[in-house]
Amino acid sequence: SLSVCVGHNSKYWVNVRSHFVLQMVRYAQTAAVPAPEPRIKKFQVYRWDPDTPGDKPRMQTYEIDLNKCGPMVLDALIKIKNELDPTLTFRRSCREGICGSCAMNINGGNTLACLNKIDTNTSKPTKIYPLPHMYVVKDLVPVSVVGQLIVSDSCLPQQDGLYECILCACCSTSCPSYWWNGDKYLGPAVLMQAYRWMIDSRDEFTEERLSKLQDPFSLYRCHTIMNCTKTCPKGLNPGKAIAEIKKMMATYKERKAAAS
Ligand code: SF4
Ligand code: SF4
Ligand code: FES
Repeated sequence: SLSVCVGHNSKYWVNVRSHFVLQMVRYAQTAAVPAPEPRIKKFQVYRWDPDTPGDKPRMQTYEIDLNKCGPMVLDALIKIKNELDPTLTFRRSCREGICGSCAMNINGGNTLACLNKIDTNTSKPTKIYPLPHMYVVKDLVPVSVVGQLIVSDSCLPQQDGLYECILCACCSTSCPSYWWNGDKYLGPAVLMQAYRWMIDSRDEFTEERLSKLQDPFSLYRCHTIMNCTKTCPKGLNPGKAIAEIKKMMATYKERKAAAS
């Protein structure tokens, strides 16, 4: 029928024919691409709902096809909540490592779910718990740690390696000293905030801050094990900040002894 339409214009007919052949080749190529094999990954997630009478903490397993999921653990959690189980509860907001609200324990380490890449080895499940040694509100949501402890310092100075702290509490909740003495030891997140103030030349209360840290617990429960620094998802070094406070404290005590 094409030859009828184009009459005897053979040049045009050749063009139409080659276009048609090209289309066929393209179609054959597209049709030949096989659908990717599903990459089913198991996620074992801590569940506990205090509002359900008698509910006990348990691990619940969800399966996700990694071909249909974003690369981060938070993507998997959002997918589970949207498509598999709307009752799953976790905190998140910015999705880019800024707000600190998605801090949780993933495969044994405290980190931010939105910055933590899913381990693509599908033979191993990813295990997700709330931050350790915290009271749990529900599922992956612990009581807010640092928010309760940092009360007044709302406009902190901007030193490199310190101001990037997002107060996610991954460090404090990985610190054994904080686990056992969280009521008296301030923990790395708060001490690093204190250090930010102390090394700011505008701070007029450094002596006062040091005097408040003299007791055996607030500062000295840090035994420099450095779990805090190892786990910080922002690559900061709260352990070093604490070591620096201890040095400042030694000088402060010497000065006080000399004055008395
Ligand atoms: S120091 Fe790191 S782990 Fe600790 S609160 Fe700040 S960002 Fe989080
Ligand atoms: S270095 Fe200090 S603050 Fe950090 S984990 Fe160890 S004891 Fe805790
Ligand atoms: S969602 Fe804000 S830090 Fe992860």
